[in-house]
Amino acid sequence: MDVKKLVSQMTLEEKAGLCSGDDFWHTKAVERLGIPRVMVSDGPHGLRKQDDAADHLGINDSIKAVCFPAASATAASFDPDMIREMGEALGDSCQHEKVSVLLGPAVNIKRSPLCGRNFEYFSEDPYLAGKMCAALIQGVQSRNIGTSIKHFALNNQEHRRMSSSSDCDERTMREIYFPPFETAVKEAKPWTFMCSYNRINGVYASENPWLLTDVLRKEWGFDGYVMSDWGAVSNRVAGVAAGLDLEMPASGGVNDRKIVEAVKAGKLDEKLVDLACERILEISYRYLENAKPDTPWDQEKQHARAAEIAADCMVLLKNDGDLLPLSKEDTAAFIGEFAEKPRFQGGGSSHINCFRTTSAVEAAKAAGLKVTYAPGYSVEKDELTDERLAEAVAAAKKAKAAVVFAGLPDSYESEGYDRTHMRMPECQNRLIEAVAEANPNTVVVLHNGSPVEMPWIGKVRGVLEAYLGGQAVGEAAVRVLFGDVNPSGHLPESFPVQLEDNPSFLYYGGEGNRTEYREGVFVGYRYYDKKKMNVLFPFGFGLSYTTFAFSGLKLSAESIRDTDTLTVTATVTNTGNRAGKAVAQLYVGDTESTPIRPVRELKGFRKVFLQPGESREVSFTLDKRSFAYWNTEIHDWHVETGDFTIEVGDSSRNLPLCAAVKVESTVELPRHYTQDSIYLDLMADPKAKKIITGFMKKTMEIFGTEQREEDSTEAAKEAITEEMTMAMMKYMPLRGMLSFGGAENAEEMEKLIQQLNG
Ligand code: BGC
Repeated sequence: MDVKKLVSQMTLEEKAGLCSGDDFWHTKAVERLGIPRVMVSDGPHGLRKQDDAADHLGINDSIKAVCFPAASATAASFDPDMIREMGEALGDSCQHEKVSVLLGPAVNIKRSPLCGRNFEYFSEDPYLAGKMCAALIQGVQSRNIGTSIKHFALNNQEHRRMSSSSDCDERTMREIYFPPFETAVKEAKPWTFMCSYNRINGVYASENPWLLTDVLRKEWGFDGYVMSDWGAVSNRVAGVAAGLDLEMPASGGVNDRKIVEAVKAGKLDEKLVDLACERILEISYRYLENAKPDTPWDQEKQHARAAEIAADCMVLLKNDGDLLPLSKEDTAAFIGEFAEKPRFQGGGSSHINCFRTTSAVEAAKAAGLKVTYAPGYSVEKDELTDERLAEAVAAAKKAKAAVVFAGLPDSYESEGYDRTHMRMPECQNRLIEAVAEANPNTVVVLHNGSPVEMPWIGKVRGVLEAYLGGQAVGEAAVRVLFGDVNPSGHLPESFPVQLEDNPSFLYYGGEGNRTEYREGVFVGYRYYDKKKMNVLFPFGFGLSYTTFAFSGLKLSAESIRDTDTLTVTATVTNTGNRAGKAVAQLYVGDTESTPIRPVRELKGFRKVFLQPGESREVSFTLDKRSFAYWNTEIHDWHVETGDFTIEVGDSSRNLPLCAAVKVESTVELPRHYTQDSIYLDLMADPKAKKIITGFMKKTMEIFGTEQREEDSTEAAKEAITEEMTMAMMKYMPLRGMLSFGGAENAEEMEKLIQQLNG
């Protein structure tokens, strides 16, 4: 379709109209020109298509669909291929239901365990989040259905989400909060972007030209359209100018009229309105011209796949004495209401109306397993009656093993508000303690979208983190518990011992409408590792029913330039007696650097399936970005020349392989030396060092140790050694040469500075 031509035939009013929704879920039609309306729907881990009463908070019903695991779970799979396939299934359902764009994935960084929407987000790590969301987008879009990656950007809390300003420094945005979006644009080309509700350093995302145009389009090359989150528009005219193409849902025509008036008054260039319309139509026609409503949507088949995916996302956190997998011959007591009514998705706009859900109790019975059930706690209120407690304890005593299904109830974790603490309901903690006392073989299965405190961790033998595993989570849990599936998930986030340990703890939520990201780049393991802190479970951690060994780390070079790539290979061996999947993780650390950097950062991962005894080589390619930090002087990625460590293993705290590589920068940072520049900085710059050494010697001769050698007393010599003089001298500014000797006069100093900057 020649959309430029179409737009050229539209009146200003029609164009302004096209820039907002027709209703909750549709773009506008322009019947006069034969332009149809198209539908968009949530997302992200299932299709939430509403036919009648529409809302964006998950209140009213939508059509029956399949709920796949939420992003918190899928990230734990560390398996982009699997997530791509899940995206294909989602794309098929959209084709079947004539939905042009699926509103997702949601890729905001999990800055604090408290964010109400963490279950919809992938990780605390930008590299992992980027790779996983790119895979999902590739999958959905391979079916000619668009995605809307959201919520751009810095929407890391629900508290005051429509008014709060996320105040963050440039380097932190670039290194932590932007990369998932950037990776998605570069590797998966999302058709649309959804801007967030919040402000960024004071400016609403929906009217932020730097964000929506300079960074997103000019720098990263995004070529689709940007829509607002539902109701995220404040100043619509500023939004059009900033690059916000589509306002959703609509403002009853108020904002459309404002666009018209602004153009007429010469305050808004009509070309910008044209551009927004062209982008919207380009995407709508991309769908319309490839629409295949006869695509089958086999929900049974997708349910079966959802179960397999959920099983591959589960993270085995503890398994003392190899209690798991449980034997199918023995009885197991399933305890806790989640065993019968699993919590498998979160509240809000992502809420799917599942065509079916399978609980663990149901799945175990269907598999003919000897499982008993006692509800224990209540999910409705934080309550554990004596009667129910006694029943649970009795069930636990009678069985060989007890499995408590626990976690966060719906009301604890939802879109629209944050958690206020990191604890599970007290009734659940009490139940777990009591059951563990009654039966030493107690395992806890957790359903939650982000970390919880585990005061009972020392008393149970096993913990299986199921996250919010989608509608088939019960089947998946049973398969893992009884060994049909060997768990292979790894934590996409750190589990701190307590909330207070989290780096954002002091600032999260902010003051009034302002939340400062003061912990900077030290989010999650970047903080815990730098502080050498004890965590409950580290980033990247996950056990298996088999064991893996890592060996043979090889680098393609000992030294590279930042324009080269480095190939890293290592061997993973299954040293146990069960087939299983290992997740090899590669972390890079800058040994010594001027900017304050994390100890290590994830820069590669590979999931490999291995038979017992089998070995496979995994290979990673590292490039400039793997070593770089964001330099705020040149506003670009920069590698500081020096040594870097490459570590490989299967969690951020288990990295048995380590090697070093030297990376040399090909970019010279601008030099701004003045008479106030200090020796330390000059000596760190090889070019400046050459120039300055002679001068420095002169100063030392005059003021330092050389002179004292001859005429100072023993006592004076002892008071200050040559090393001490050097240590002190390094903080001296160049102008010290005038005061203490080294440079003759102002002219000589001026010449020297020119030479240094030359
Ligand atoms: C949410 C979005 C969602 C939209 C439409 C908003 O409240 O933040 O993630 O896509 O509603 O339901």
